[in-house]
Amino acid sequence: MREKLIFDLSRPGRKGYALSDRDFTDSSLESILPEKFLRKSPPELPEVPESEVVRHFVRLSNMNYHVDKNMYPLGSCTMKYNPKINDYTCDLPGFSTLHPLQPSETTQGALQLMYELAGMLSEIAGMAAVSLQPAAGAHGELTGILLIKKYHESRGSKRHKLLVVDSAHGTNPASAALAGYEIISVKGNADGRTDLDDLARKLDGDVAALMLTNPNTIGLFEKDILRISEMVHKNGSLLYMDGANMNALLGIARPGDMGFDVVHYNLHKTFAAPHGGGGPGSGPVGVSKILEPFLPLPIITKNESDEGTTYALNYDRPESIGRMMNFYGNFGVLVRAYTYIRMLGPDGVRRVSENAIINANYLLSLLLERFDLPFPKPVMHEFCLSGDRQKKEHGVRTLDMAKRLLDYGFHAPTIYFPLIVSEALMIEPTETESKETLDIFAKALLSIADEAANNPELVLSAPVTTPVRRLDEAMASRQLNICCSL
Ligand SMILES: Cc1ncc(COP(=O)(O)O)c(C=O)c1O
Repeated sequence: MREKLIFDLSRPGRKGYALSDRDFTDSSLESILPEKFLRKSPPELPEVPESEVVRHFVRLSNMNYHVDKNMYPLGSCTMKYNPKINDYTCDLPGFSTLHPLQPSETTQGALQLMYELAGMLSEIAGMAAVSLQPAAGAHGELTGILLIKKYHESRGSKRHKLLVVDSAHGTNPASAALAGYEIISVKGNADGRTDLDDLARKLDGDVAALMLTNPNTIGLFEKDILRISEMVHKNGSLLYMDGANMNALLGIARPGDMGFDVVHYNLHKTFAAPHGGGGPGSGPVGVSKILEPFLPLPIITKNESDEGTTYALNYDRPESIGRMMNFYGNFGVLVRAYTYIRMLGPDGVRRVSENAIINANYLLSLLLERFDLPFPKPVMHEFCLSGDRQKKEHGVRTLDMAKRLLDYGFHAPTIYFPLIVSEALMIEPTETESKETLDIFAKALLSIADEAANNPELVLSAPVTTPVRRLDEAMASRQLNICCSL
């Protein structure tokens, strides 16, 4: 199953696309472009006919794994099926041919879409306002933390610590450190939730905020959230929610009602835009009233007058933290999220989370026969098993079982995250999988548990059916030059 590079398929003179000479005007490039921008020699592009190009990329896509192929149970990543209508609306020429520097009189539809999307996201999370600017979840985190920093500075306070719970995604401490904070880790308790005693010990006058994921990264709802919010606010600190797991809360519970001051959404997960190995992300940030003046520039305003409704970009915000990105965010992802929410409507949005929770608990009930669950159930939209039993009894690690799943035609779950679970195997089925698919997936994992007991060599040597066998993952992380690694 080796596939040559497109450059190796190239033969001089072969063409993919021919244009008649009559399609060109007489004007030469020299008359359009300044001399310094003209190429001295032609670009070294592959010369291949259209049929070869199409077949090459179709063969590559067949080797790849994607949500259009089968279930993608990557915990914490919410790899749900993305409805194609989201791509259709995104491709409408009125959206796809816009230029970000066009005057706003000519981009009213796009501005209206962004204004309304921000309104819908505010309502879903119960926040006062939303900025659509950040380009990913981690970028949303940085934006949110900078808002918190600006808030404290505006009050003359120099708080320099940020509390992060030990089950948090690695981007949480990384974003807080990037914003200049000292990171203090708060422990989880035996239930897998935030340890309130440890939190109380660490909340002092230097703490700017607590970053919390709810439901947390092992799929458990932080049921003491109102108490946590009270403790944090009494201390003069703010509460940040990593909203990457909003897929469990839509239409059911709102971060704003739980006392969160900031939340970032992962639009590319929860609101069905393709991500992971392709496609840009989007990490809008929702804030409570006290943080609204600091939101990034520009914000979109809606103006009503006798002549009708118009939308505008407002840069006149003296307290803003400034720009977090060029222009206004990853617009294509915003169009997809808008389409998705409008298609579902309020009841449909709630059903997304209800079904995500039901699917996770159903799948968990099937897997408990052979795998250990370190923390109590029920879970929300995902769960984290431990492969400790298989490791201790048969010398088969979670990594080996994840590789063997590829032979069964499934993408591997998230493994070794969160760090608080030994031999972690973190599974998020999402709401878009049918009962039949969940049954087949469970059967595959249970068979692998049998193989681990009866034929461990098979699991240890997996994968055996994939285009490439086991890769050197340490080398892949350390040797970043992937162009010429031979
Ligand atoms: C819990 C959690 N927080 C934050 C992030 C970061 O989001 P992004 O990958 O969009 O930067 C992720 C990403 O997987 C996540 O799972």
